[in-house]
Amino acid sequence: MPIRIPGRRRVAVLISGAGSNMAALIAAGQAPDAPFEVVLVIANTPEAGGLAIAGAAGVPALTIDHRPYGKDRAAHEQAINAMLDEHGVEVVALAGYMRLLTPWLVGRWAGRMLNIHPSLLPLYPGLDTHARAIAAGDSEAGCTVHIVTEGVDEGPALGQARVPVRDDDTPATLAERVKVAEHQLYPHVLSTYCRTLH
Ligand code: GAR
Repeated sequence: MPIRIPGRRRVAVLISGAGSNMAALIAAGQAPDAPFEVVLVIANTPEAGGLAIAGAAGVPALTIDHRPYGKDRAAHEQAINAMLDEHGVEVVALAGYMRLLTPWLVGRWAGRMLNIHPSLLPLYPGLDTHARAIAAGDSEAGCTVHIVTEGVDEGPALGQARVPVRDDDTPATLAERVKVAEHQLYPHVLSTYCRTLH
């Protein structure tokens, strides 16, 4: 059985890529008074750079590759869910997890699954958020942490952070500025959320 530290929620982070938000969550969860700790990282591809970062931080990190499951999303999610249960996970944080989830997994973790999205939702759900913000001539961009519901990027927002859009921004430079904000917002919101969780 997993060892539980009283007062700390057991969080799993799901990733697909670099894992910079995951790293920020792991670091925040290692603070002495943190209300959560990251106990598991799952990637849906072995190429996810975040796996090595998690491993180096002493957090169990594993791949549940979606490819062998083909179109059987349910079976892939059942494998993920089995690992979450095995590790005594209480809260799931999606951090650059780029697979759509089925209503089954969303329902299984209803109210206990968070996501970070690189826009000021409800603006720009989906992909290419920074290019869309620049194309629209927005003066502000940012990121949102929200509860995951069945609709993509639609769940109730728990927090947002704003950054300016500069005249000479490209999607890449704006993404970099938003990422800095993401790394502050996500640990902050997850901490507040875990403190109020019953
Ligand atoms: C982050 O910008 C996150 O907001 C975004 O992917 C990036 C992952 O970076 N998520 C989405 O677009 C989800 N719709 P990271 O792997 O370095 O944390």
